[in-house]
Amino acid sequence: MALASVILAAGQGTRMKSERAKVLHELSGEPMVHHPIRLARSVGADPVVLVIGHQAEQVQKTVEPAFPGLRFGLQSEQKGTGHAVMQALPALEGFHGRVLILYGDVPLLRAETLKALGGVLDETKGPLALITTRLSQPKGYGRIVRDEAHHFLKIVEEKDASPEIRQITEVNAGIYSVDSEFLRSALSRLKNDNAQKEYYLTDLVAIAKADGHSVGTLLVDDPTEVKGANTQAELAELAATLRRRINLGHLERGVTMIDPERTYVGTEVEIGADTVIQPNVHLGGRTKIGRGCTLDTGVVIQNGILGDRVTVRPYTVIEDAQADRGAILGPFARLRPGAVVMDEAHVGNFVELKKTRLGKGAKANHLAYLGDAEIGAGTNVGAGTITCNYDGYGKYLTEIGEGVFIGSNSTLVAPVQIGDQAYVAAGSVITDQVAEADLAFGRARQVNKSGRAKALRAEAMEKAKAAKGKKG
Ligand code: UD1
Ligand code: MG
Repeated sequence: MALASVILAAGQGTRMKSERAKVLHELSGEPMVHHPIRLARSVGADPVVLVIGHQAEQVQKTVEPAFPGLRFGLQSEQKGTGHAVMQALPALEGFHGRVLILYGDVPLLRAETLKALGGVLDETKGPLALITTRLSQPKGYGRIVRDEAHHFLKIVEEKDASPEIRQITEVNAGIYSVDSEFLRSALSRLKNDNAQKEYYLTDLVAIAKADGHSVGTLLVDDPTEVKGANTQAELAELAATLRRRINLGHLERGVTMIDPERTYVGTEVEIGADTVIQPNVHLGGRTKIGRGCTLDTGVVIQNGILGDRVTVRPYTVIEDAQADRGAILGPFARLRPGAVVMDEAHVGNFVELKKTRLGKGAKANHLAYLGDAEIGAGTNVGAGTITCNYDGYGKYLTEIGEGVFIGSNSTLVAPVQIGDQAYVAAGSVITDQVAEADLAFGRARQVNKSGRAKALRAEAMEKAKAAKGKKG
C-alpha cells in the first residue's frame, strides 16, 4: 500500500519564548523537525509533505538540504490542524494510498508504533486510525470518549469539553493514518464552528463515524513517545529521553560509555564495538567510528570517519574529516574539512589540518597549520610548521614527499614541492622546490660577535637612564 506523510509544522510555538521557529530547536544535535521527517521516510512514506507557516522561509531553508525531495505546503495563517493538512493537498495530488499525519514538534515517535498503527487500520478496515495515550495531566489535550463497552465514540477538545469529559485521562496524540480519498473528501467538509473557530483535524474522526465507518485506535503505553515540545523545559526533557534511547542502543552493540547521560550522539552516528567513550563527547551528523577506538573527554566530531583503534585525546575537534586505523589525534587537535590522517599517523596538540592528507605513520606533533597539503608516509613535521597556502586571493598546494624531515618553525610558501627524504632546516622559509634527498636552509646564517654582550648591556643601561631623566 502506497504511503505518504503530512507533517504539521506551521505553529508558532509562543511558549518556547524564542525567536527561533519551534521546530528548528535542536534535539540530539539537529532540528526537532528532522526527527519526524526521518521517521516518515524510514517507514516508507513518499512523498513527505511538511506544512510550514511561522518562519516558513527559515524552516524550509534549514530542512530542505538535509532531505532532498521533501515537499512543502504553506499555511500562511494558522487556522487549525485541519486547515494545516488542507495546505498539504496540492503536494499530494495524484497520490492514492494511506497518509500518515505527524507533528513537527513530536520527535520521539518510533517506527514500530507507526507500523502498529497501520496494523490497526488494516484490522478495522475503516478509513482512519489514530494514536491515543494516557496522561496523568491531560490538560490541553483532546479527550478520547468511549462507551461502556470501551468502544471509541469521539474526540472532544479541551476547550469544548464538559467538566466530566475533562476527567478523562485517555487523550488524542494527534497522530493519524488516513485513507487518502477519505482525507480529501472529509477535509472539504470541515467547519470551524467550535470554541476556537479553528478547522479541527479531529473532526475527520467525527465525519468517519457519521459516515458509518469504524475508527481504530492504538493506545501507546509510553506517553513520551507522543509528547510534543512546547516549552524549553519539555524540549530538554525530550532531548534527555532521546539521548538515553540512542545511547542504550550503542551500549547494547558493545560500545562502552563511561557516563551515557553525558555523551551526546546524533541519531545517524555509527560506533564500532569496544570503542570507549569518556563523558562530554559530542558525535554528530554522519559520523562513523570504528571498533576499539578511544574518544577522550571533550572530543567533538561532526561527519567524521574514524577507522579501527583510533585514539582521540581530549578536546580534539573533527569536522568532515577522516582518520584511519591506529591514528592518534590530540589533545587539542583540529581536523577541518578534507583532512585525512592515514594509518598510524599522529596529530598532536594545537595542530590544525585542512584539506590535507597526512601519510601513513607521518607525524605532526605540535603547533602546526597544515592546509592544502599532501604529506607522504613517515614524514616528520616539526613544531611550528606553517603551510602558507593563501596569498589573499588564491589557495595553493604544498606537496611533501615520504620520509621528509621538516625542521621546527618552518614556513612553506605554496605552491611548493619537497622531494622524498629531503631535510628542511629549522626556521626555514621555503619558497623554492626542494629536490629528493636535498638539505634546504631557508634562513640567514648565524653571526657571533666575541664578548660584545657586555658592551651591549652597558649601552642599553645608559639609554634607559637617559630616557628616565627626560621623563622626570
Ligand atoms: C491537537 C488535537 C488534540 C490533541 C493534540 C495533541 C486538534 C483540533 N486537536 O491539539 O486533540 O490532543 O493535538 O498534541 O487537532 N499546527 C499547524 N497549523 C495550525 C495549528 C497547528 O501547523 O493551524 C501544528 C502545530 O505546529 C503543532 C500541531 O499542529 O505541531 C498541533 O497543534 P497544537 O495547537 O499543539 O494542537 P491542538 O490543536 O491544541
Ligand atoms: Mg492549537
